[in-house]
Amino acid sequence: MLDNETINIVQSTAPILKENSKQIGQRFYQLLYSKAPELYNVFNQTNQKKGIQQEALGYSVYAAGEHITNLDAIKPVIERITQKHRAIGIKPEQYPIVGETLLHAVKDVLGEAATDEILDAWGKAYGYIADAFIQIEKELYQETAHQSGGWEDYRAFYIKNKVKESDVVTSFYLKPKDGQPIATYKAGQYLTIKAEIPGEKYTHIRHYSLSDAPGKDYYRISVKREDAHGDAPAGIVSNYLHNQVQEGDTLQFSAPAGDFVLKTAKNPVVLISGGIGITPLLSMLNRTVEQNQNQEVTFIHATTNSQTHAFKDYVAKLAHNNKNIKSIVCYSAPTKEDQHFDKKGFIDLELLEANLPSNEVDFYFCGPIPFMQAINKMLKQLNISSDHIYYEVFSPIAMLENE
Ligand SMILES: Cc1cc2nc3c(=O)[nH]c(=O)nc-3n(C[C@H](O)[C@H](O)[C@H](O)COP(=O)(O)OP(=O)(O)OC[C@H]3O[C@@H](n4cnc5c(N)ncnc54)[C@H](O)[C@@H]3O)c2cc1C
Ligand code: HEM
Repeated sequence: MLDNETINIVQSTAPILKENSKQIGQRFYQLLYSKAPELYNVFNQTNQKKGIQQEALGYSVYAAGEHITNLDAIKPVIERITQKHRAIGIKPEQYPIVGETLLHAVKDVLGEAATDEILDAWGKAYGYIADAFIQIEKELYQETAHQSGGWEDYRAFYIKNKVKESDVVTSFYLKPKDGQPIATYKAGQYLTIKAEIPGEKYTHIRHYSLSDAPGKDYYRISVKREDAHGDAPAGIVSNYLHNQVQEGDTLQFSAPAGDFVLKTAKNPVVLISGGIGITPLLSMLNRTVEQNQNQEVTFIHATTNSQTHAFKDYVAKLAHNNKNIKSIVCYSAPTKEDQHFDKKGFIDLELLEANLPSNEVDFYFCGPIPFMQAINKMLKQLNISSDHIYYEVFSPIAMLENE
């Protein structure tokens, strides 16, 4: 454990570091890439360009500093990060350079205010936090590799089928090239791809939620094509998958990861998705249909219209055939031909209030960040306690929590 003086310095300076985490983050990545350019292959370069990942790492180190005497208090955050690290393949030997570079960046940004005493205390605190992460990640690596059908790092899968689900979403059915069994997973978890794209300077790592129920001899991911818009270029990996990857091609994936999973099998659940956020919730829906006919599921999906509505007929059929499933569809801009939807516009308080099956209901949601912020706010307005609210974010976690 750390000495009291170190703890005092760390806890009293954590708020200042948190306040400056954006600037420290920018400096951190400049320094990191000059020291270790191979990390361009590891961090998501698009997030870096958009400035949405830069503060996440530092910010969470400082937040951990505030809770340094009781890291258990931020257990859910640590679980989410360590799952991501394991999925990406972060190793213990990478921690020291990240720690040294963070301190270097703090010194550069705060100047003389960052005294040797403060830097020394944060150096010790980082070591302590890093050890906790490394230990959890070590266990995750062992569990992942040693489970039935499990593997270490990345494994080759070929595309068995490529199936169009809507104008913008395509599913990929993945089978292992080695023909051996594959690990099962919990509905809501994701696969991580390391894409080596012809013509691209770096490898690109991305996560894709498993969109079918667990227990099959294949994995399925469903990917939205991120088109160019305004000044923003087309998404690198989604366009590669949509436009270049064909049935029979090989891709590299790490084993399923993630902490966004159904917490109990008994409470009624409301699964709310916006756009491509449907994927982890569809996996949960399918799992319930296949394994737990007693659990009541309200499946609320919001999208633009029938053209962007992935799995439209499939979910409608499930709801028709299973009395424990209720499906509600909201279209923000229905086409003239659209007739089969329940609400025009966005999901609102009235709609959620009308679909509260009981007091002990659990909410799971996923979608674009503004959508998620709106849902989160509405659930708070309905006095739903946070231990009944679970969500997955398709971008760095700090974003939803900071705003
Ligand atoms: C846990 C998790 C699960 C996920 N599950 C799914 C899933 O099931 N299905 C799915 O489709 N996605 C999922 N995602 C998102 C996915 O990982 C990718 O982020 C997504 O496919 C976009 O990757 P890309 O390489 O195509 O786009 P990127 O190249 O990463 O670009 C992302 C977006 O940024 C824009 N952009 C690029 N450069 C700039 C710039 N300089 N300035 C401004 N904007 C820019 C692009 O136009 C695009 O809209 C998930 C993410 C996480 C974290
Ligand atoms: C105690 C030290 C660390 C903390 C607190 C930390 C924290 C975080 C956080 C908060 C995220 C965002 C999680 C998310 O997207 O959901 C993240 C992602 C990530 N971390 Fe760490 N991290 C640490 C160490 C490391 C190390 C040593 C590496 C090795 C290079 C690393 C590499 C990454 C990568 C590649 C991502 C994905 C981000 C992206 O590509 O956008 N982290 N980490």
